Amino acid sequence: MNILGISCYFHDAAAALLQDGRLVAAAEEERFSRIKHDFGFPERAIRFCLARANVSGPDLDYVAFFEKPFIKFERILQTALATVPRSQTVFRKAMTAWMLDKLWVKNRIRDALGIDASRILFAEHHESHAASAFFCSPFDDAAILTVDGVGESATATSGQGHGTSLRLDSEIRFPHSLGLLYSAFTAFLGFEVNEGEYKVMGMAPYGVPRYQDKVWKLVEVGDDGAFALNLDYFSFHYSAERTYTSRFEDLFGPPRRPETPFFTDGSGYPSYFGPRPANYATLAADNQHYADIAASIQVVTEEILLRMVRHACTRAQTTKLCMAGGVALNSVANGRILRETPVTDLYVQPAAGDSGAALGAALFVQHQVLAQPRSFVMEHAYWGADLDQDDIRATATRSGLRHVTCGDESELIDRTVDLLTNGGVIGWAQGEFEWGPRALGHRSIIADPRRADMKDIVNTKIKFREPYRPFAPSVIEERAAEFFDLVGGSHQYPARFMLLVTPVLEQSKSRIPAVTHVDGSARLQTVVQSTNPQYHALIRAFGDASGTPVILNTSFNLRGEPIVNTPAEAFSTFARSEMDALVLDRTIIYKNSK
Ligand SMILES: [Fe+2]
Repeated sequence: MNILGISCYFHDAAAALLQDGRLVAAAEEERFSRIKHDFGFPERAIRFCLARANVSGPDLDYVAFFEKPFIKFERILQTALATVPRSQTVFRKAMTAWMLDKLWVKNRIRDALGIDASRILFAEHHESHAASAFFCSPFDDAAILTVDGVGESATATSGQGHGTSLRLDSEIRFPHSLGLLYSAFTAFLGFEVNEGEYKVMGMAPYGVPRYQDKVWKLVEVGDDGAFALNLDYFSFHYSAERTYTSRFEDLFGPPRRPETPFFTDGSGYPSYFGPRPANYATLAADNQHYADIAASIQVVTEEILLRMVRHACTRAQTTKLCMAGGVALNSVANGRILRETPVTDLYVQPAAGDSGAALGAALFVQHQVLAQPRSFVMEHAYWGADLDQDDIRATATRSGLRHVTCGDESELIDRTVDLLTNGGVIGWAQGEFEWGPRALGHRSIIADPRRADMKDIVNTKIKFREPYRPFAPSVIEERAAEFFDLVGGSHQYPARFMLLVTPVLEQSKSRIPAVTHVDGSARLQTVVQSTNPQYHALIRAFGDASGTPVILNTSFNLRGEPIVNTPAEAFSTFARSEMDALVLDRTIIYKNSK
């Protein structure tokens, strides 16, 4: 049985293919189209999934779409009508977009894949999110919590999963949305909505949550986590341009100018920003104010989530929890869930946002609709396209640079460890690319985390990433407890998928300064030998050479670009940066000719 899941037309379009209930391929469209957060119909991702399984459109038993467009359209119409005349512009824009293609997605799928319309099924947005978490998890029974910006009309749901079925029995509806509350602050802090949320999370540790009382004026929450926004402060429900109102600005002051360099006394002034400005102190104080706001919205978001989690687990009478939706990517909140709630086992799959709902829709059809038994647990994130060997050879030859193809894995690892211990910054591409927004050692930039100056070196070499973007430690799972305070154990899946922030142990902070964030935390990746043997071997060998089985890992892309896919794209990124070496499978290309 072949079931293709599709998500698109909002942000992060994707496709995922199940064969007899097991995932065989999944990818976001941006990796192929090279348009960051590409939300268009994911034809390239679909083509990849089908080719990977060697099937064509008519071979598909079902295509599952991640939401119900007509219900969503109805919500948009109702909201627009309720907020006339303020909503005129947003209404006009929505009508155009929906009439042009969003409503006709069934026809688009039928034409693209050549299958009968009766085999195209639609799951609700939050059902897709819920299925993407629960049916990928190893749990037979679990509480389920989905939290995002908005789907059709739900913005958060909770319920439980049991075997091949799940039930969502409570929901919060638009415009009351935790995701949109966070996004309003994302916009206020000068970042792009649906893109800059992780930057708010990264900025928060530089601040003190001194404005919590003000944030609590915007949102009310009950003990059960049910919340309501005070709509006087928001305009996202009737404006296409602004997400918050002038009352919001009365409370928090003027918004931060987009693209303003971020630094505080805590972060210091990175060398790659150039010479220190004459008004450094004023700018640092300004940034501190915004960091304090970021810290405040982050803490309030965590508090609301913690209440929702406690309530969901109490109702489902379990300590196992599956989470999905964009807010489940908040790895700081995930850390607190494991530390401060009764949850003993947390499952979040790597593409917890809307792209992952493509997979969720397919799983929903497989289990909830067709009641097929479960035979799949998502143990790793490597469901994308592999590296093409001809492309590697051609890229190495065309580079005109010194390159070597290693005879075996141990030579590759020896040479790479040598580069790392000598301070090299390396583009590392291996096997299938990752599903979801995190680079997990298949399309990563790696370096030595023991050097405090490595943050600045990497930032400089890969073109000026902002200081609030922390670098992650990849650690072999069996040594994780030596460095990180992992309540709940190193086996937690969010740690495997870099979706968990934990404290770095006091005695280990000085061992890995380049991956320890300003507040002493780290967004770690535990690397498991069985699912990622080569990356595991590399980190272990680096540990043998240095005493520290941890590697600095950041995504293999330049600022504003999607993570690389092919060898040619990896080389292009390598060539436009000052990375020292590029590893493509077993071939190493050196920038320096010596
Ligand atoms: Fe969503």
